[in-house]
Amino acid sequence: MNKFHEPVLLAECITGLNINKKGIYVDVTFGGGGHSREILRKISKDSKLIVFDQDQESILQNDIKDDRIIIMNKNFRYLHNCLTSIGVDKVDGIIADLGVSSHQINTSRGFSFNSRVKLDMRMNKASSLTALEVLNEYNKENLSRILKNHADFPNSQKLAEKIINYRKKSYIQYSQDLLDLFSGSFFVPKKNQFFARIFQAIRIEVNDEINSLKELLKTSLKVLNPKGRLVVISYHSIEDRIVKNFMKYGHFEPFPKKDFFGNHFRPFNLINKKPVFPNQEEQKINNRSRSAKLRIAEIKT
Ligand SMILES: C[S@@+](CC[C@H](N)C(=O)[O-])C[C@H]1O[C@@H](n2cnc3c(N)ncnc32)[C@H](O)[C@@H]1O
Repeated sequence: MNKFHEPVLLAECITGLNINKKGIYVDVTFGGGGHSREILRKISKDSKLIVFDQDQESILQNDIKDDRIIIMNKNFRYLHNCLTSIGVDKVDGIIADLGVSSHQINTSRGFSFNSRVKLDMRMNKASSLTALEVLNEYNKENLSRILKNHADFPNSQKLAEKIINYRKKSYIQYSQDLLDLFSGSFFVPKKNQFFARIFQAIRIEVNDEINSLKELLKTSLKVLNPKGRLVVISYHSIEDRIVKNFMKYGHFEPFPKKDFFGNHFRPFNLINKKPVFPNQEEQKINNRSRSAKLRIAEIKT
């Protein structure tokens, strides 16, 4: 097992990219480099792999010595500008393995409710918003918005009120404070799922994950060559819904849009109509893979 991060659905992603040996590929979520290493094995000595990670630690700790790799310590929302800056106009495939790496979960940035650490949750340590500001400074309306939009809590207003009431007494600082303030708010056998969703909502807000994902998807239409592949692994239903709608309809609503002539706009062919899930063996070996959903689409010619 790779201590930094075990790649999820590795073989399925590589097949999904349908690699052309001479093509240019982008791994927008480098992490521990698991998917990237496999792509490098498949491309020729003259082609390129461009990788992104907004977390400097991922880049520094997984240095791959290979002349074909170009490393960008950037948010993938800037994909288009970054490609332009290195003179690349079009690419043949993009892979995105969304969310956080095992390494990030195990660091002391407060991504996990199982560790007693200060709440931070930034993937990019240089960005300004942390979980502390979200929890201690957001008003009730904004807290309720993130709990509803980023984690589908139907009782988001009540949960937001709990945060507001708690912080009248003390500053929210540690993951343990969240466990305390929400005690009694969940059905006990579902404790882990409840807190996973609370932490997910805050993490998505801190890292502006939904907007970054939407920008990446829109950019994919600009930068992928005809027959270029978009391969995305998501780990929760909010991301998956966005990816699914975009691959089906080229935008974020669950229905097709018509152009001026009344034709439906569908920029992609779906390679798999239903998402691909890790098999039982992978789920057993790699706990993190259990919520993974892989979708693959190809730009129409
Ligand atoms: C699930 S891990 C990827 C693991 C990788 N596929 C592997 O096999 O090792 C996700 C990585 O993407 C990075 N990431 C998430 N959102 C990002 C974004 N918007 N821009 C750049 N990197 C991002 C995280 O910092 C993390 O290292």
